[in-house]
Amino acid sequence: MARETWATRAGFILAAVGSAVGLGNVWRFPFITGQEGGGAFLLVYLLFVALIGLPAILVEFVIGRRTELNPVGAIRDLGSGAWNYLGWLFVAIGFVILSYYSVVAGWFLRYTLIGVLDGYAVADTGEAQALFGTVATGIDTLLFHAVFMALVIGIIAAGVRRGIEIGVKIMVPAIVALLVGLAAYGFTLDASTAAYGYYLSPDFGYLAANWTSILPAAAGQAFFTLSLGMGVMITYASYLGEDRNLVADAGVIASLDTLVAVLVGFVVFPFLFAAGLEPGSGGPGGIFVSLTTAFAGIPGGRVLGVVFFGMVGIAALSSAISILEVLVSYLMDELGVSRVPASAALGVAVFLLGVPVTIDLIFLDLFDLLADGVLLVLGSLLLALFVGWVIPDIAREELSRGIGDLGPFGDVWIWIVRVPIVVVVAVSLYLGVVDYVE
Ligand code: PFF
Ligand code: NA
Repeated sequence: MARETWATRAGFILAAVGSAVGLGNVWRFPFITGQEGGGAFLLVYLLFVALIGLPAILVEFVIGRRTELNPVGAIRDLGSGAWNYLGWLFVAIGFVILSYYSVVAGWFLRYTLIGVLDGYAVADTGEAQALFGTVATGIDTLLFHAVFMALVIGIIAAGVRRGIEIGVKIMVPAIVALLVGLAAYGFTLDASTAAYGYYLSPDFGYLAANWTSILPAAAGQAFFTLSLGMGVMITYASYLGEDRNLVADAGVIASLDTLVAVLVGFVVFPFLFAAGLEPGSGGPGGIFVSLTTAFAGIPGGRVLGVVFFGMVGIAALSSAISILEVLVSYLMDELGVSRVPASAALGVAVFLLGVPVTIDLIFLDLFDLLADGVLLVLGSLLLALFVGWVIPDIAREELSRGIGDLGPFGDVWIWIVRVPIVVVVAVSLYLGVVDYVE
């Protein structure tokens, strides 16, 4: 059977945006920003997205479009020797990330349902914390993890055009509309001035004193949020089947993802300040505890809560499908398994790997720190070395397809991939590993 392609240009861009915009923007970004000092972190993160993230998206795009293969096949096709294992790293990372991503997405589904059925009746942060405790682990958590994975499997089993493309054409506009509404509400809160001050004015003294933790956190967040380092963008670009301007597409994708993350800050920080809560407190559960406390205390909070948690659930779904698609494309291309059984088998395997996370949050920290602090960054580092030093001419030529003469941009890009990306990512990886070992 012929390999599928996207039906439309918008389909490809929306799928990539749908992959990028997810828990990374809504759940991870605010709590990491809170932990790493607010504006100081925001500044470094924005620099990373523009200078490192954007060229790194192009690295994955050229490999995918060139080979029209899954990451394992694509890298084997272009390289030789030990490089063959790099594709495997991506597949392994996909398993780890999707397993806990789905559990956290299940929390959001659960909070949406709680809002619909009962409202967020918590009197104080203590009660909100207790509610989070019942949602975060246990047999119900497992159930919501299963429901979420079933949705992911359903979409991926339906295929590139009928599943992913139709899905994202509904989901992405819904996410943006809901978020803009929420941010508009955030502006009306009294606490918004203080919140925006914290969020938007970087404290350079703080930055200088804490760069060894800010740098790896910003690098990890930049790769995670742009869905880099595990072959998603390779896989999605492998379904292009036509030449067009990849630089323009990457620009749109990175801009939209960044816009959503920044907008989420405009929503979340005013709610936190309004409830008198410390941003960044409480780690992964922090956003649930603080937002339910906030929603319980403001007029219309129940509706806002349902909209907010529901929006995040949708965003998580449009990201999770991209990770399963990497794994499925591998089984289809390499082993000739057909789409439906491949989706079901891999989805179930991911579900099982996520089971420990539903039992103890220790596993969430472990998986997230390992995947995000180490593996994603490692994947991107090795891929940059591969493209920059092993196949630079192929990469430059592939990038020019659909653009024409790249002028000096082609060389600038290759040199960014060769040196700055590698150095910055290696330093971040080192600092991240030190942190992980501690
Ligand atoms: N980019 C997604 C987010 O920000 O939530 C998460 C993600 C999806 C990471 C796909 C990695 C990936 F391959
Ligand atoms: Na993101």
